[in-house]
Order: sequence, then C-alpha cells, then structure tokens
Amino acid sequence: MEDVIFKRRSVRSYTDQQVTKEQEEKLLRAAMAAPSARNLQPWEFIVMRDKSNFEKIMSVHPYSKMLKEASLAIIVCGNEERNLEGLPYWHVDCAAAIQNILLEVTNLGLGAVWLGVYPREERMEQIAKICELPNHIKPLGIVSVGCPKNHPEPADRYDASKVHFEKW
Ligand SMILES: Cc1cc2nc3c(=O)[nH]c(=O)nc-3n(C[C@H](O)[C@H](O)[C@H](O)COP(=O)(O)O)c2cc1C
Repeated sequence: MEDVIFKRRSVRSYTDQQVTKEQEEKLLRAAMAAPSARNLQPWEFIVMRDKSNFEKIMSVHPYSKMLKEASLAIIVCGNEERNLEGLPYWHVDCAAAIQNILLEVTNLGLGAVWLGVYPREERMEQIAKICELPNHIKPLGIVSVGCPKNHPEPADRYDASKVHFEKW
C-alpha cells in the first residue's frame, strides 16, 4: 500500500493500448470504496471512451490535452440531493473517490491524471452541458486514464515544517 501511495504520480502520456472493461470496473469499484460523510456515497460517474466527447472536453478545459491519447475518462460528479443536513459534503467525498481511482490506477499499472473542474463555475457548467447532467448532479473532476508511456519517479514530499503537534 505504501508503495502505491508514493508511486502514484500524474501520467499525461499514454500508449495505444486500451484500458480494458475489467480494469474500468476495478477503478469504479475502488472509487465507490471511498469513505463518505454518513456513508451517503453522493457520487455518480460518467464513463467516457468516445473520442468526439474527449474533443468536446478539450475544447473547454485548457489543461486536458492528454485526453488525445487517453482511452478512458471518468467524470466524477456529486449528487447535491445526497447531502448531510444541507451541507455540501459531496465535494470532499468525491475527492476521496478520485484519490481511490488514482491509487487503483497505480495498482493496476495504468496511468492517470486528475483534471480539476470544481470549483470553477464556468468549467462546471461546460462539463455539465457536455455530459448532459441533470441540475442536481455537479462535476467535481475528470480522471484521464490510459496505459502509461512513461513512469514518473515516486514522490515523497514529506516536509516536517508543515507538521504541528498539539497546537499551531
Ligand atoms: C484538484 C486538482 C486539479 C488538477 N487539475 C489538473 C489539470 O487540470 N490538468 C493537469 O494536467 N493536472 C491537474 N492536476 C494534477 C496536478 O498538477 C498534480 O497532481 C500535481 O502537480 C502533483 O503531481 P503528481 O500528481 O505527479 O504527484 C490536478 C490535481 C488536483 C488535485
């Protein structure tokens, strides 16, 4: 597990080999294993493989050019109606789901990068339109997935100056 955490790096270049349906399901299973406030699991996933849809995302998202080579994009969305006493926990719950996808990607020897959507209102609207999301389903982020062309070095960013014991 420790290996997977440190080995996970953003991968933005992919080979022609396709991510299989079996791998796709493992990624979604990992996503749905994430913790969520009161176990509300407020996530929904748009699984995209159609290149013409990738083109639409690339036309509205300035940092998504790696989708050109990706075999799969998972748009992770939050269901605003699955909230806890009106509080928008879906942001954090869906972020945990994305991290789980990224860790499973690493575990399976695939490559991926998280593309930010929330909290940029305009980008959220554009992605919602492309995915034809109903109004209560909000896009948090996109995971671009493929078979990696390169394997970045593991990262250990431990910084003792950021750790505070008992008080600031
Ligand atoms: C909320 C969020 C939004 C991100 N958005 C993008 C993005 O739009 N395009 C991109 O190429 N990388 C994006 N990244 C990836 C970060 O650039 C990357 O995680 C960071 O540079 C650390 O590198 P590492 O993932 O290789 O450890 C995003 C990451 C997060 C957590």
